[in-house]
Amino acid sequence: MDRSHFYALMEGDGKLDYEVYLNTSQILKAQKPMTDLCNKDELMFQIVHQIEELWMKLIGYTLLDIDDYIQETNTHRVISLFQRVHQTLTLMTSQLRLLESMSPKEYQEIRLQLGNGSGQESPGFRTLLKMPPFLWESYQKHYLDQKGLTVEKIYNSQYSHCEAYVVAEALTEFDEQFQAFRIHHLKLIYRTIGIGAKSLKGRSVELLQKGIQQRFFPELWDIRGAMTDAWGGEYGVKRDALGNKNNAAHDN
Ligand code: HEM
Repeated sequence: MDRSHFYALMEGDGKLDYEVYLNTSQILKAQKPMTDLCNKDELMFQIVHQIEELWMKLIGYTLLDIDDYIQETNTHRVISLFQRVHQTLTLMTSQLRLLESMSPKEYQEIRLQLGNGSGQESPGFRTLLKMPPFLWESYQKHYLDQKGLTVEKIYNSQYSHCEAYVVAEALTEFDEQFQAFRIHHLKLIYRTIGIGAKSLKGRSVELLQKGIQQRFFPELWDIRGAMTDAWGGEYGVKRDALGNKNNAAHDN
Protein backbone atom coordinates (compact mmCIF):
# COMPACT_ATOMS: atom_id res chain seq x y z
CA MET A 1 0.00 0.00 0.00
CA ASP A 2 1.11 3.51 -0.76
CA ARG A 3 1.80 4.99 2.68
CA SER A 4 1.69 8.67 1.72
CA HIS A 5 -1.67 8.17 0.01
CA PHE A 6 -3.17 6.65 3.17
CA TYR A 7 -1.51 9.18 5.49
CA ALA A 8 -3.28 11.94 3.55
CA LEU A 9 -6.60 10.03 3.65
CA MET A 10 -6.34 9.62 7.44
CA GLU A 11 -6.11 13.39 7.93
CA GLY A 12 -8.96 14.20 5.55
CA ASP A 13 -9.26 17.67 4.08
CA GLY A 14 -11.28 19.05 6.99
CA LYS A 15 -14.04 20.58 4.86
CA LEU A 16 -17.06 18.34 5.46
CA ASP A 17 -19.56 19.43 8.12
CA TYR A 18 -18.52 16.59 10.43
CA GLU A 19 -14.85 17.51 10.04
CA VAL A 20 -15.55 21.20 10.59
CA TYR A 21 -17.71 20.64 13.70
CA LEU A 22 -15.19 18.28 15.29
CA ASN A 23 -12.21 20.23 14.07
CA THR A 24 -10.69 16.98 12.81
CA SER A 25 -8.00 18.87 10.90
CA GLN A 26 -6.47 20.16 14.10
CA ILE A 27 -6.94 16.93 16.04
CA LEU A 28 -5.40 14.77 13.34
CA LYS A 29 -2.49 17.15 12.84
CA ALA A 30 -1.79 17.34 16.57
CA GLN A 31 0.61 14.40 16.37
CA LYS A 32 4.06 14.42 14.84
CA PRO A 33 3.96 13.99 11.06
CA MET A 34 4.16 10.22 10.39
CA THR A 35 7.43 10.67 8.55
CA ASP A 36 9.06 12.27 11.65
CA LEU A 37 8.11 9.58 14.16
CA CYS A 38 11.16 8.05 15.83
CA ASN A 39 9.69 4.54 15.72
CA LYS A 40 6.46 2.62 15.12
CA ASP A 41 5.26 3.09 18.72
CA GLU A 42 5.59 6.84 18.98
CA LEU A 43 2.24 7.60 17.35
CA MET A 44 0.45 5.38 19.87
CA PHE A 45 2.45 6.97 22.72
CA GLN A 46 1.42 10.47 21.66
CA ILE A 47 -2.21 9.59 20.97
CA VAL A 48 -2.72 7.86 24.33
CA HIS A 49 -1.29 10.86 26.17
CA GLN A 50 -3.38 13.28 24.14
CA ILE A 51 -6.56 11.31 24.74
CA GLU A 52 -5.80 11.16 28.45
CA GLU A 53 -5.46 14.97 28.43
CA LEU A 54 -8.86 15.27 26.76
CA TRP A 55 -10.45 12.95 29.32
CA MET A 56 -8.92 14.99 32.14
CA LYS A 57 -10.29 18.17 30.55
CA LEU A 58 -13.75 16.57 30.54
CA ILE A 59 -13.39 15.43 34.15
CA GLY A 60 -12.26 18.89 35.28
CA TYR A 61 -15.14 20.56 33.45
CA THR A 62 -17.62 18.07 34.92
CA LEU A 63 -16.28 18.53 38.45
CA LEU A 64 -16.98 22.27 38.15
CA ASP A 65 -20.62 21.45 37.35
CA ILE A 66 -20.72 18.92 40.17
CA ASP A 67 -19.52 21.58 42.58
CA ASP A 68 -22.35 23.90 41.48
CA TYR A 69 -24.91 21.13 41.95
CA ILE A 70 -23.48 20.21 45.35
CA GLN A 71 -24.01 23.83 46.39
CA GLU A 72 -27.65 23.51 45.29
CA THR A 73 -27.90 20.05 46.95
CA ASN A 74 -29.22 18.81 43.61
CA THR A 75 -28.33 15.20 44.36
CA HIS A 76 -29.74 13.68 41.18
CA ARG A 77 -27.49 15.88 39.07
CA VAL A 78 -24.49 15.30 41.33
CA ILE A 79 -24.85 11.53 41.03
CA SER A 80 -25.43 11.51 37.26
CA LEU A 81 -22.38 13.66 36.66
CA PHE A 82 -20.24 11.67 39.06
CA GLN A 83 -21.15 8.54 37.07
CA ARG A 84 -19.67 10.27 34.02
CA VAL A 85 -16.53 11.16 35.94
CA HIS A 86 -16.13 7.62 37.30
CA GLN A 87 -16.63 6.08 33.88
CA THR A 88 -14.09 8.45 32.35
CA LEU A 89 -11.53 7.61 35.01
CA THR A 90 -12.10 3.90 34.33
CA LEU A 91 -11.37 4.57 30.66
CA MET A 92 -8.25 6.53 31.54
CA THR A 93 -6.92 3.65 33.61
CA SER A 94 -7.74 0.94 31.10
CA GLN A 95 -6.14 2.94 28.28
CA LEU A 96 -2.81 2.85 30.07
CA ARG A 97 -2.59 -0.83 29.13
CA LEU A 98 -2.23 0.14 25.46
CA LEU A 99 1.23 1.40 26.32
CA GLU A 100 2.21 -2.06 27.51
CA SER A 101 2.22 -3.11 23.87
CA MET A 102 5.35 -0.94 23.49
CA SER A 103 8.68 -2.64 24.16
CA PRO A 104 11.07 -1.17 26.77
CA LYS A 105 13.56 -0.41 24.00
CA GLU A 106 11.03 1.48 21.91
CA TYR A 107 10.12 3.53 24.98
CA GLN A 108 13.78 4.44 25.50
CA GLU A 109 13.90 5.74 21.92
CA ILE A 110 10.74 7.80 22.47
CA ARG A 111 12.02 9.07 25.80
CA LEU A 112 14.88 10.82 24.00
CA GLN A 113 12.24 12.85 22.13
CA LEU A 114 10.64 14.12 25.34
CA GLY A 115 13.38 16.56 26.32
CA ASN A 116 12.68 17.52 29.92
CA GLY A 117 8.97 16.79 29.50
CA SER A 118 7.24 14.82 32.25
CA GLY A 119 3.74 13.69 33.15
CA GLN A 120 4.05 15.94 36.17
CA GLU A 121 3.61 18.86 33.77
CA SER A 122 0.22 17.55 32.57
CA PRO A 123 -2.22 20.49 32.70
CA GLY A 124 -5.18 18.15 33.18
CA PHE A 125 -3.61 16.24 36.05
CA ARG A 126 -2.41 19.39 37.80
CA THR A 127 -5.90 20.87 37.56
CA LEU A 128 -7.59 17.75 38.92
CA LEU A 129 -5.23 17.70 41.90
CA LYS A 130 -6.39 21.21 42.83
CA MET A 131 -10.15 20.58 42.74
CA PRO A 132 -10.97 18.11 45.55
CA PRO A 133 -10.52 20.57 48.48
CA PHE A 134 -13.17 22.81 46.90
CA LEU A 135 -15.55 19.89 46.39
CA TRP A 136 -15.08 18.86 50.00
CA GLU A 137 -15.72 22.39 51.25
CA SER A 138 -18.99 22.59 49.29
CA TYR A 139 -20.05 19.11 50.38
CA GLN A 140 -19.30 19.76 54.01
CA LYS A 141 -21.16 23.07 54.03
CA HIS A 142 -24.26 22.08 52.07
CA TYR A 143 -24.74 18.40 52.84
CA LEU A 144 -23.37 18.20 56.38
CA ASP A 145 -23.13 21.48 58.34
CA GLN A 146 -26.36 23.03 57.07
CA LYS A 147 -28.27 19.85 57.93
CA GLY A 148 -26.59 19.32 61.28
CA LEU A 149 -24.95 16.13 59.99
CA THR A 150 -21.43 14.75 60.32
CA VAL A 151 -19.61 12.00 58.49
CA GLU A 152 -19.98 9.82 61.60
CA LYS A 153 -23.74 10.37 61.70
CA ILE A 154 -24.41 9.59 58.06
CA TYR A 155 -22.24 6.46 58.06
CA ASN A 156 -22.95 5.14 61.54
CA SER A 157 -25.06 6.59 64.35
CA GLN A 158 -27.81 8.04 62.10
CA TYR A 159 -27.26 5.87 59.05
CA SER A 160 -30.27 5.92 56.75
CA HIS A 161 -28.64 5.78 53.31
CA CYS A 162 -29.56 9.48 52.99
CA GLU A 163 -28.57 11.85 50.17
CA ALA A 164 -25.51 13.06 52.10
CA TYR A 165 -24.37 9.43 52.32
CA VAL A 166 -24.93 8.77 48.63
CA VAL A 167 -22.95 11.87 47.63
CA ALA A 168 -20.20 10.91 50.10
CA GLU A 169 -19.95 7.52 48.41
CA ALA A 170 -19.69 9.21 44.99
CA LEU A 171 -16.81 11.32 46.34
CA THR A 172 -15.21 8.15 47.73
CA GLU A 173 -15.53 6.45 44.36
CA PHE A 174 -13.84 9.41 42.68
CA ASP A 175 -10.99 9.23 45.20
CA GLU A 176 -10.62 5.47 44.70
CA GLN A 177 -10.71 5.69 40.89
CA PHE A 178 -8.08 8.42 40.92
CA GLN A 179 -5.85 6.27 43.11
CA ALA A 180 -6.45 3.33 40.77
CA PHE A 181 -5.19 5.42 37.85
CA ARG A 182 -2.04 6.29 39.79
CA ILE A 183 -1.46 2.67 40.83
CA HIS A 184 -1.84 1.38 37.26
CA HIS A 185 0.39 4.18 36.00
CA LEU A 186 3.08 3.08 38.43
CA LYS A 187 2.71 -0.54 37.26
CA LEU A 188 3.13 0.74 33.70
CA ILE A 189 6.32 2.52 34.71
CA TYR A 190 7.67 -0.66 36.35
CA ARG A 191 6.83 -2.62 33.21
CA THR A 192 8.44 -0.05 30.92
CA ILE A 193 11.44 1.46 32.69
CA GLY A 194 11.87 -0.92 35.63
CA ILE A 195 11.49 -0.84 39.39
CA GLY A 196 13.62 1.76 41.18
CA ALA A 197 14.86 3.33 37.95
CA LYS A 198 15.71 7.01 37.82
CA SER A 199 13.04 8.96 35.96
CA LEU A 200 13.51 11.77 33.49
CA LYS A 201 13.74 14.23 36.34
CA GLY A 202 16.53 12.15 37.82
CA ARG A 203 14.43 11.10 40.81
CA SER A 204 13.39 7.58 41.66
CA VAL A 205 9.91 6.64 40.46
CA GLU A 206 9.38 5.39 44.00
CA LEU A 207 8.53 9.02 44.75
CA LEU A 208 5.29 8.39 42.90
CA GLN A 209 4.37 6.00 45.72
CA LYS A 210 3.64 9.09 47.79
CA GLY A 211 1.03 10.16 45.27
CA ILE A 212 -0.62 6.77 45.47
CA GLN A 213 -1.09 7.20 49.19
CA GLN A 214 -2.74 10.60 48.72
CA ARG A 215 -6.40 10.61 49.75
CA PHE A 216 -8.54 13.50 48.54
CA PHE A 217 -11.20 13.01 51.20
CA PRO A 218 -9.47 11.47 54.24
CA GLU A 219 -12.59 11.82 56.43
CA LEU A 220 -14.44 9.40 54.16
CA TRP A 221 -11.73 6.77 54.56
CA ASP A 222 -11.11 7.36 58.27
CA ILE A 223 -14.76 6.75 59.16
CA ARG A 224 -14.48 3.15 57.97
CA GLY A 225 -11.54 2.44 60.23
CA ALA A 226 -13.17 4.28 63.13
CA MET A 227 -16.31 2.17 62.70
CA THR A 228 -14.35 -1.06 62.61
CA ASP A 229 -12.62 -0.06 65.85
CA ALA A 230 -15.86 1.09 67.47
CA TRP A 231 -17.82 -1.98 66.47
CA GLY A 232 -15.11 -4.29 67.77
CA GLY A 233 -11.75 -5.24 66.37
CA GLU A 234 -12.43 -8.98 66.45
CA TYR A 235 -14.70 -10.26 63.73
CA GLY A 236 -17.70 -12.19 64.98
CA VAL A 237 -17.16 -11.13 68.59
CA LYS A 238 -19.46 -8.67 70.30
CA ARG A 239 -18.38 -7.08 73.61
CA ASP A 240 -20.33 -5.22 76.27
CA ALA A 241 -19.32 -1.81 77.66
CA LEU A 242 -16.86 -3.48 80.06
CA GLY A 243 -15.18 -5.28 77.20
CA ASN A 244 -16.58 -8.69 78.14
CA LYS A 245 -17.48 -11.02 75.31
CA ASN A 246 -21.17 -11.61 74.82
CA ASN A 247 -23.31 -12.92 71.97
CA ALA A 248 -20.19 -14.06 70.15
CA ALA A 249 -21.40 -15.17 66.75
CA HIS A 250 -18.98 -18.07 66.57
CA ASP A 251 -19.14 -19.24 70.20
CA ASN A 252 -20.05 -22.91 70.39
C1 HEM B 1 5.12 3.97 29.16
C2 HEM B 1 4.45 5.04 29.50
C3 HEM B 1 4.82 5.94 30.64
C4 HEM B 1 5.95 6.03 31.38
C5 HEM B 1 7.22 5.20 31.25
C6 HEM B 1 5.75 7.09 32.33
C7 HEM B 1 6.68 7.50 33.26
C8 HEM B 1 6.51 8.43 34.21
C9 HEM B 1 7.48 8.80 35.21
C10 HEM B 1 8.88 8.20 35.34
C11 HEM B 1 6.93 9.75 36.00
C12 HEM B 1 7.59 10.44 37.22
C13 HEM B 1 7.87 11.87 36.94
C14 HEM B 1 8.95 12.06 35.93
O1 HEM B 1 10.08 11.97 36.31
O2 HEM B 1 8.61 12.27 34.78
C15 HEM B 1 5.60 10.00 35.49
C16 HEM B 1 4.71 10.89 36.03
C17 HEM B 1 3.46 11.11 35.53
N1 HEM B 1 2.91 10.57 34.38
FE1 HEM B 1 3.68 9.06 33.30
N2 HEM B 1 4.49 7.60 32.17
C18 HEM B 1 3.89 6.94 31.14
C19 HEM B 1 2.62 7.17 30.65
C20 HEM B 1 1.77 8.14 31.11
C21 HEM B 1 0.45 8.40 30.58
C22 HEM B 1 -0.23 7.69 29.40
C23 HEM B 1 -0.07 9.40 31.28
C24 HEM B 1 -1.41 9.98 31.03
C25 HEM B 1 -1.94 10.94 31.67
C26 HEM B 1 0.92 9.79 32.28
C27 HEM B 1 0.78 10.79 33.23
C28 HEM B 1 1.66 11.06 34.23
C29 HEM B 1 1.36 11.96 35.32
C30 HEM B 1 0.06 12.71 35.52
C31 HEM B 1 2.48 11.98 36.13
C32 HEM B 1 2.62 12.74 37.45
C33 HEM B 1 2.09 11.77 38.50
C34 HEM B 1 2.10 12.25 39.93
O3 HEM B 1 2.64 13.31 40.20
O4 HEM B 1 1.56 11.49 40.77
N3 HEM B 1 2.01 8.99 32.15
N4 HEM B 1 5.37 9.18 34.42
